[in-house]
Amino acid sequence: MTDELFMRRALDLAALGQGTTRPNPMVGCVVVGPAGTIIGEGYHQQYGGPHAEVNALASVEDQDLLRQSRVFVTLEPCSHHGKTPPCADLLIAKGVPEVVVCNDDPNPLVSGRGLNKLRAAGIKVSTGLLATEGRALNKRFFTMQEKKRPYVVLKWAESADGFLAGPHFQPVQISGPQAGLLTHKWRTEEAAILVGTRTALHDNPRLNAREWPGPQPVRITLDKNLSLPPSHHLFDGSQPTLVYTHRHRDARPNLDFITLPPDIAAAPDVLPAVLADLHARGLESVLVEGGPTVVGALLASDLWDEMRVFRSPRRLERGIAAPRVGLRSWRTAENVGEDKLFWFENH
Ligand SMILES: NC(=O)c1ccc[n+]([C@@H]2O[C@H](COP(=O)([O-])OP(=O)(O)OC[C@H]3O[C@@H](n4cnc5c(N)ncnc54)[C@H](OP(=O)(O)O)[C@@H]3O)[C@@H](O)[C@H]2O)c1
Ligand SMILES: [Zn+2]
Repeated sequence: MTDELFMRRALDLAALGQGTTRPNPMVGCVVVGPAGTIIGEGYHQQYGGPHAEVNALASVEDQDLLRQSRVFVTLEPCSHHGKTPPCADLLIAKGVPEVVVCNDDPNPLVSGRGLNKLRAAGIKVSTGLLATEGRALNKRFFTMQEKKRPYVVLKWAESADGFLAGPHFQPVQISGPQAGLLTHKWRTEEAAILVGTRTALHDNPRLNAREWPGPQPVRITLDKNLSLPPSHHLFDGSQPTLVYTHRHRDARPNLDFITLPPDIAAAPDVLPAVLADLHARGLESVLVEGGPTVVGALLASDLWDEMRVFRSPRRLERGIAAPRVGLRSWRTAENVGEDKLFWFENH
């Protein structure tokens, strides 16, 4: 029970790195001294910065106590020289007798190596404590490592009668202000945000987080024939933007045009190639804000991880239909202002 509490504390610390460690995982670490109390804490704060173990061990005032301490860490300690020296070596050098790990490293090239190194040095090692919670915390990182694509969050707002836009693509405000605020928060939580060509054209979205503090996502749209008006907000250079196209256009500051190879461009669905390219760019997650064509393609090819649907109490009577999903399969449903938010997970 107490071990669980220590690991929970380590997970809470890890979560403080949300948004600043990506595409690295969030990692937390707690040092429990011989008296059974926490004598040191740390977390991975910044991509490229010191790992959680380094910060936690350094925070212990009496370094001699490390020889009688137990270290709780949320991810398998690294064993290779990356941007920083291996944490496994540090734990060994400090004489730590026991290490408790939450999640094994998902990278098959390094998985188990850190643990083996510790065990070979005579350190008592156990893994899997609160593993489910650890995977949930680092869902984006694990998806990126295991599926070689970003974590995909689908999001839209629909009317009570199942429409997400009026007839003839006329933009209508469907969800209320609280849903809008939450959407802006979500935009700070994902590395990228994607919309289809028609949404970019008709809604002219800014795709930034104006109503919530935090990092701005990379904006992404599809524009096969480069037909979107250059005066649209997406092309204003205010934040990094990627446009996937069949044509060629020179890059401008904060605006890149990515020409898809002819064989991919000819395919009916270019999204798998787009996701693979985002993965290659180290973008660990993408919030997909429609429209229904893009969302439908991702649903059909099972390239999604979460779906967040706002259902408004108001009716539209006619318009563009929202993707049909079994609303009974939601994991949670909650009220957000006047709207109902249904949250789905793809298992
Ligand atoms: N209520 C909401 O939450 C919400 C959110 C977003 C949008 N909307 C509404 O949705 C409407 C637009 O939806 P929509 O479905 O017509 O358009 P969309 O999904 O935004 O864009 C469709 C276009 O994007 C390209 N595209 C999409 N998926 C593709 C794929 N898998 N492979 C290749 N190309 C792909 C195609 O362009 P090409 O034709 O050039 O090949 C396609 O015609 C707008 O009225 C907007 O207001 C509502
Ligand atoms: Zn490390």
